[in-house]
This record gives sequence, C-alpha cells and structure tokens, in this order.
Amino acid sequence: MHVVLLSGSPAARSRTEVLLDHVRQRLEVQQVEVSLLRVRDFPAEDLLHARFDSPAVQQLQAVVASADGLVVGTPVYKASFTGALKVLLDLLPERALAHKVVLPLASGGSPAHLLAVDYALKPVLAALKAQEMLSGVFAVDKQIAYPEGDRPVQIDDELRARLDEALEQLGAALARRPQPIDPNLLNDRLVNARWSI
Ligand SMILES: Cc1cc2nc3c(=O)[nH]c(=O)nc-3n(C[C@H](O)[C@H](O)[C@H](O)COP(=O)(O)O)c2cc1C
Repeated sequence: MHVVLLSGSPAARSRTEVLLDHVRQRLEVQQVEVSLLRVRDFPAEDLLHARFDSPAVQQLQAVVASADGLVVGTPVYKASFTGALKVLLDLLPERALAHKVVLPLASGGSPAHLLAVDYALKPVLAALKAQEMLSGVFAVDKQIAYPEGDRPVQIDDELRARLDEALEQLGAALARRPQPIDPNLLNDRLVNARWSI
C-alpha cells in the first residue's frame, strides 16, 4: 500500500506539515509506504509556467499515479486552499485521482473558514476523479502549538483524536478499494475463457 502526502503550504515552518507528519508516523507504524511531496520543493518556474514536461512535474505525476491513496494538506489562504497547491494540482492529468482514496486536511487561523475544504478543495479533487473522498480534518492554529526551545510541536488532544479517526477511515477505505484490473490479466482471462452458448 502506498500513500502520498501532499503539502500545499509555501511556509518553511508549517502547521499543515505538522498534520501530515502525524499522518506519516501513524501510517508507517502500519507498514504503509509513504511519500511526502511539498509544493515548496517544486521549481516555482515549472509551476507558474505550467511546464507539464519538466522532470519535477513528470516525477510528481509518476508518484501520484503509483499511489493507492493521497492525503492532501493545505493552509487556508483567503478563504480557500493555497494558490501554490492549485498550480500544482493543475499539472496533474485529468483522471489523476481515479481509483484513489483521498483524505483532505487543512489548517487555518479561524474556524470561520472551516468549510474551505468542502467548497474549495474537494471540488478540485473531485474534478481529478478521486474515487472516494473522506470527510477531512480542519485544524485551527491554536490546536498546533510551537513551544519555546527544543520541545516538540504539540497537537492538542481533540485534534489528535479527529486525525486518528480520519486515519481509521482512510485505512478502511484503502482496504475495501477495488483494485484496478491489470489489462494483461484481463486479456489472459478472455483468451483462456471457456465460452458456451
Ligand atoms: C497569505 C495568508 C492568508 C491567510 N488567509 C487565511 C484565511 O482566509 N482564513 C484563515 O482561517 N486563515 C488564514 N491564514 C492563516 C493560515 O491558514 C494558518 O496560519 C495556517 O495554519 C498556516 O499553515 P502553514 O503553517 O502550513 O502554512 C492565512 C495565512 C496567510 C499567510
């Protein structure tokens, strides 16, 4: 099983990435292969000029194609998901999320923009033909605290519980996900089938 974590935050110190890191740790305990992709690691010129043929974009497409599931995390910017994430999603092929389970995550300064995932991010993921979209998790900034000194980032208990519940749903959705039929296997079955009239 392979899950891609996609961060749409341009920030070096990112609460979205704290959420994704929690997800990564939980999935790795379950022996799930995890790949982390960050929009901030892509060459800005490739994104802004929509270079579908750039090596970084080709690599993105290949990694996403190989995934069983995606966890897409974004900060809320101006009541929506980030523009940086949008230009990256624009570079995926039309049916890039077909046969995949998708869990959206967002962090925002205010609960007033809780629905940004539903009205802004989910329609784009649906346009990419996500097979199953889970309900998603929204975190407000105060639930992810950066303590003084070297102490680790703190995720509050309520948020941690919602993340873990979403991960259970992700695991269940991945387990029941119908496997796409391998065209070679289908061909073999047709060739070797016994037909009767
Ligand atoms: C340019 C910008 C726009 C923002 N707009 C909103 C907003 O409309 N609503 C909101 O709740 N938070 C807004 N925020 C706050 C961020 O969503 C919030 O701090 C988030 O946790 C940042 O995530 P990150 O640390 O992963 O970048 C904005 C922050 C920035 C930098």
